[in-house]
Amino acid sequence: MSILIKNGQIVTAAETYIADIYVEGERIVAIGEDLNYDAEKIIDATGKLVFPGGIDPHVHLDMPFMGTYSSDDYETGTRAALHGGTTMVIDFILQTQGDTLHNALKTWQQKSQGKAIGDYSYHMAVTDFNDNVAKEVVQMIEEEGISSFKTFMAYKGALMIDDGQMVQLMKVVKKHGGLVTVHATNGDMIDSLIAKNKALGNLSPLYHYLSQPEVTEAEASARFSDMLHYTGCPGYIVHMTCEGALNAVRIATQRNQKVFVETCTQYLMLDASLYEKDFEGAKWVMSPPLREKKDQAALWSGINQGLVQVVGTDHCPFMWEQKKMGKGDFSKIPNGHPAIEHRMELLFSEGVHKGKISLTKYVEVSSTNAAKIFGMYPRKGTIAIGSDADIVIFDPKKEHIISVETHHMNCDYSAYEGQKVTGKTETVLLRGQVAIENEECKLNAGNGQFIPRGKTSITVI
Ligand code: URP
Ligand code: ZN
Ligand code: ZN
Ligand code: ZN
Repeated sequence: MSILIKNGQIVTAAETYIADIYVEGERIVAIGEDLNYDAEKIIDATGKLVFPGGIDPHVHLDMPFMGTYSSDDYETGTRAALHGGTTMVIDFILQTQGDTLHNALKTWQQKSQGKAIGDYSYHMAVTDFNDNVAKEVVQMIEEEGISSFKTFMAYKGALMIDDGQMVQLMKVVKKHGGLVTVHATNGDMIDSLIAKNKALGNLSPLYHYLSQPEVTEAEASARFSDMLHYTGCPGYIVHMTCEGALNAVRIATQRNQKVFVETCTQYLMLDASLYEKDFEGAKWVMSPPLREKKDQAALWSGINQGLVQVVGTDHCPFMWEQKKMGKGDFSKIPNGHPAIEHRMELLFSEGVHKGKISLTKYVEVSSTNAAKIFGMYPRKGTIAIGSDADIVIFDPKKEHIISVETHHMNCDYSAYEGQKVTGKTETVLLRGQVAIENEECKLNAGNGQFIPRGKTSITVI
């Protein structure tokens, strides 16, 4: 298939200009003014923005968690992502404590192969570190194209590792050119606050929020950064929510450390007042929880300061019936919310349209930086000759309203019900194939490819 995209305003992390793009097979072959190719399909992009396909490096598809499974699988999740202009996701493989990384890898391959519609890769979550796992970490980097290792400083007894294991993991990962990523909250502090609130009979979703105050995240972010400093390993803090945690990274960057930061759409635009809606607040029960307006302001400015490099979603949807597992006990509400579909549109509307970030910054945080940090640039994350033709044609003026009635995620509520958005994904190409056109997904399950990643190309960012 060959496609010619005419007259769009191309946006990369570096610049924006009007030109044509010619795509042949899976790749971008030419970019220039008035290109003259005999293409099978011509798309007129006059008045439209043309972005590299979005990359969401934080999603949980078909994940076993808190006694149930997240409700989007690889098929429904990557389809919804494509509808919103995200052409690639990075999901998390969870090692079962006491079992091997390779067994966990097999389980996730079964979840994704033949099912994914969009492209994907995996982070490997190390939940139990020992000498054998250390050898497997090296094999993941050298043989499996998995170069990022997720750790949890919370969820004790299920996913959490202790500081001793963390330091050992960092040493191995550093030596072999990988990256350690982290859910940075102090699990012991949170567990004691949960126990205290339950003993007092404080059982509504509001107490999920009150059991994870800012200090629990700031402390863990600082401790993680210090362990990185001690081991010399590069690191990445996922789903950062607050000013205190960001200040910990500010100190680390003053020591010239590589500590990358991801925030998520919801932490930039939603706040903790949503937990005051009685049990409806369960819709936004996630960890860490939503915070305050002052934290939103700190995160937006963190993006512009270059302290926050990536905006993901932590997409981890549960049906309302699943959320009700925690009716009468907030600690049993499955943590997570549906978000994969609307990241690009929300970030454009709240960020670019409202003047908080520039167009080039938008592309940086929604696509390019994730590709660079996670070792797949420039194949992914930019519009350049030779790159995969993952391309979003976006109408910056079109207004629409987010609703469960129209979204494609397998979740029976929307976290943004009724929200007006300016800017809409119109056409999406995935490796040169038309994925989304006229609000329809044109690709089938099994089309998505696993993208093996190189050693983290941390020197390019
Ligand atoms: O609430 C959340 N974030 N659920 C998914 C698991 C995690 O901690 O990222
Ligand atoms: Zn949409
Ligand atoms: Zn997390
Ligand atoms: Zn997560």
